[in-house]
Amino acid sequence: MAIKRIGVLTSGGDAPGMNPCVRAIVRTALYRGVECFGIRRGYNGLISGDVLRLDEKNIGHIINRGGTILYTARSDEFMTEKGQEKAATTCKFLGLDSIIAIGGDGTFRGAAALSRFGINVICVPATIDNDVCCTNYSLGFDTAANTAIDCIDRLRDTMQSHERCSVVEVMGRNAGYLAMYVGLAVGATAVLVPEKEIDFDKDVIEKIRQARLNGFTHYMIVVAEGAGSASNIAAKIRDSIGLDPRVTVLGHIQRGGSPTARDRVNATKMGYLAVELLLSGKTNRVISTANGAFSDVDIQEGLNMKRNIQDFEVDVLAAMTGL
Ligand code: F6P
Repeated sequence: MAIKRIGVLTSGGDAPGMNPCVRAIVRTALYRGVECFGIRRGYNGLISGDVLRLDEKNIGHIINRGGTILYTARSDEFMTEKGQEKAATTCKFLGLDSIIAIGGDGTFRGAAALSRFGINVICVPATIDNDVCCTNYSLGFDTAANTAIDCIDRLRDTMQSHERCSVVEVMGRNAGYLAMYVGLAVGATAVLVPEKEIDFDKDVIEKIRQARLNGFTHYMIVVAEGAGSASNIAAKIRDSIGLDPRVTVLGHIQRGGSPTARDRVNATKMGYLAVELLLSGKTNRVISTANGAFSDVDIQEGLNMKRNIQDFEVDVLAAMTGL
């Protein structure tokens, strides 16, 4: 069946890179003679028919903008079979041959549900958590990491001046990829991730003690939100060794900002590939990348995959924080 009209939506937590990806999808579609419609507010927009025609003009000058011009939302109604059926009916009414969904694993579960109602969906991984298991990289991760690194470098200046301990909480709902990567990049004294059992005395107190014995008088503890709250970690440090840590929760700052070059270029390649997959007749795929190469996997297979923090990164962190 020739693809003549596609829809594109962004869903779940927004991520820098979503706009460059929407741009690439629209430009590739138009280049291939395919109409492209934006669906606003994620799957809610698919249920309500909240669509707008996309062309070169309304995707102009968004390659460098964080967030998503299509808005995003988490949709309770779409979690129900009735909501999914309504969304599929809207697609058929609007004559949308396929949908490209940009988001994280929750978005992909929605796409798998939609495919059961006969709608072809291609998914693009985009979440700052980088916890989509079928790909090594999800859009937004590099921008969020660099935002967090910049914030923590600034924190280090004042912690050094006042010879203080800083406990910084980074995002990553249930994953420690952002915390691990940022922790290595800022030279953290300790990094706490949900994937690794925490022995507080060994993984935090002893590392602060060793740093102090080596002459350091300021300390940087990075904790993934899924591994605990920064305020609780700070209280435990205070109770244990009498320091008075300062707490910083970076929160949603990590979700904004102009996409880095890596996110812009990956978004452009993934958006292009999503349209090309559709035109080649592929159905219900997730775009994946590893070591700079791009591929695609079946949505359900991708959802069943598992991935974890590399033991290699854990070993490197141990060496960097062991002294
Ligand atoms: O999934 C991305 C993410 O930023 C998580 O890291 C974070 O826990 C969550 O979204 C926050 O969700 P919300 O924006 O709905 O508060």
